[in-house]
Amino acid sequence: MVKITVVGSISTDFIIETEKRPEVGETVEGEKFSTAFGGKGANQAVAAARLGAQVYMSGTVGQDTFADELLKNLENNHISTNNVERVTHLSSGAAFITIQDGDNAIVYIPGANNALTPERIEKMRDDLKTSDLVIVQNEVPVDAIEKLIQLCDELDTPVLYNPAPARELSAEAIEKVHFITPNETEFAVLFPGKKIEDVLVRYPNKLLVTAGSEGVYYYDGNEVRLVPANKVKPIDTTGAGDTFNGAFAVAWTNGLSIYESIKFGNLAASLSIQKMGAQSGIPTLEEMKGSESYEKEWHIE
Ligand code: RIB
Ligand code: NA
Repeated sequence: MVKITVVGSISTDFIIETEKRPEVGETVEGEKFSTAFGGKGANQAVAAARLGAQVYMSGTVGQDTFADELLKNLENNHISTNNVERVTHLSSGAAFITIQDGDNAIVYIPGANNALTPERIEKMRDDLKTSDLVIVQNEVPVDAIEKLIQLCDELDTPVLYNPAPARELSAEAIEKVHFITPNETEFAVLFPGKKIEDVLVRYPNKLLVTAGSEGVYYYDGNEVRLVPANKVKPIDTTGAGDTFNGAFAVAWTNGLSIYESIKFGNLAASLSIQKMGAQSGIPTLEEMKGSESYEKEWHIE
């Protein structure tokens, strides 16, 4: 079993489904309200765990009742929460999501997710050392992320950095990560004024640019390749990127090539968007194997 540590946000999603988004000062009637488990970190942890990895989650939640549920959800998904700390002065992370025609717009309130500090990262040294891969995103403070990348570099543990939502990161840290997986918006913030093609070539087998329903671009050292997305009609695309990252991580740590790992990630993402909520559609390995697009040569355990 591969061991993956996910450092990142753990949040509750408050979801509104509506045919129309209000303009400023306007009131519209929506269709439905629901809550679901979310947070980019937790979503990626759940994806990796459902697909068979042994997953260690690291992050911070509050003391509120949301926190109890958030922790329970991770445990129900067989994720270790030993490195999740509860802080007293902040409420647990929350995201307010409006879904219209299967596409989302999100306001994210970090709350307790902002309490992740470089000191807490340092305490995880032993777990980081024994991980096959560490995944981190941008819903936690940048100094914690930089510390994590620095420490993993020292320990020789590869890091997959998913720079979502968009934010800058030092050039030094970008050099040190093993994979970096921006979408096109995040790419533009990380590499302002640069053409995707040009930057891909600078980071062979490292920079994966996710382009939604088009698929994923990367440079294999020879040519720029597009690994096409699986075509499906989305119900809710929230968490599709997270599912891709978690699934890609599992495939790659199981020894699949980057190309095949991207295909595996794309398939998982396409299954995930066929249900409402960031985590409810994330497939198990069994569900993946049941799909007609699953390839026999993918040996994942
Ligand atoms: O990537 C999707 C996630 O980002 C949601 O679950 C929500 O928590 C948002 O912050
Ligand atoms: Na979904």
